[in-house]
Amino acid sequence: MIIAVDGPTASGKGTVAKHLATRYGLKLLDTGTLYRAVGLAVLDAGGDPADEAAALAAARALDLDAIDQDRIRSSAAGTAASKVAAQPAVRAVLLKAQRDFAANPAGAVLDGRDIGTIICPDADVKLFVTASLEARTERRLKELRGRGETIDFETLKAQIEERDARDMGRADAPLRQAADAHLLDTTALNVEEATAAAFRIVDAAREV
Ligand code: CDP
Repeated sequence: MIIAVDGPTASGKGTVAKHLATRYGLKLLDTGTLYRAVGLAVLDAGGDPADEAAALAAARALDLDAIDQDRIRSSAAGTAASKVAAQPAVRAVLLKAQRDFAANPAGAVLDGRDIGTIICPDADVKLFVTASLEARTERRLKELRGRGETIDFETLKAQIEERDARDMGRADAPLRQAADAHLLDTTALNVEEATAAAFRIVDAAREV
């Protein structure tokens, strides 16, 4: 079974994907980590994530086993990720690693922006997880403050809006709900409720 989980930043898709992987005994790939790692590598080298040559070189040099899981979670890495992710050449380099992961005979859960549309268009179940801009800003604020980053609500909200616009507006693999994806709006749901709703969707889809 392949489960595709897509959605905008801080929608709760990562948490839902984690619980789905545990419940169904599947391996999980958070594909955002790949773009974050490439974005961070460009920043670390003193480059501009919007510079295509720098981003492509970083994507080609990416070592999946050497990704610093803590540093890639910073807001700077998130912004850099969405800049490198807008570049078709970078996406082409990262496509193979994602498809290889999904080819695992035991199945897999992948979460990102284009899993249901581009990476795994034949996934057995697709979820599109979303939430209001306010709810997403509140969640990301908590996460970033937990990391010691100081940022106010309005500044973060503007950053998230800008990232949404870049992810949805790019020409290559824009963020959008696949026609056959189930919509899961987590605005009014806590983690347990969102997870339970996702389980219901997947269980129902498996019965068909
Ligand atoms: O954690 P958060 O939802 O904020 O972001 P993420 O899933 O780690 O992804 C970071 C950025 O990578 C996104 O804003 C996208 O621009 C890009 N991305 C993408 O283009 N395609 C994917 N499959 C995953 C991430």
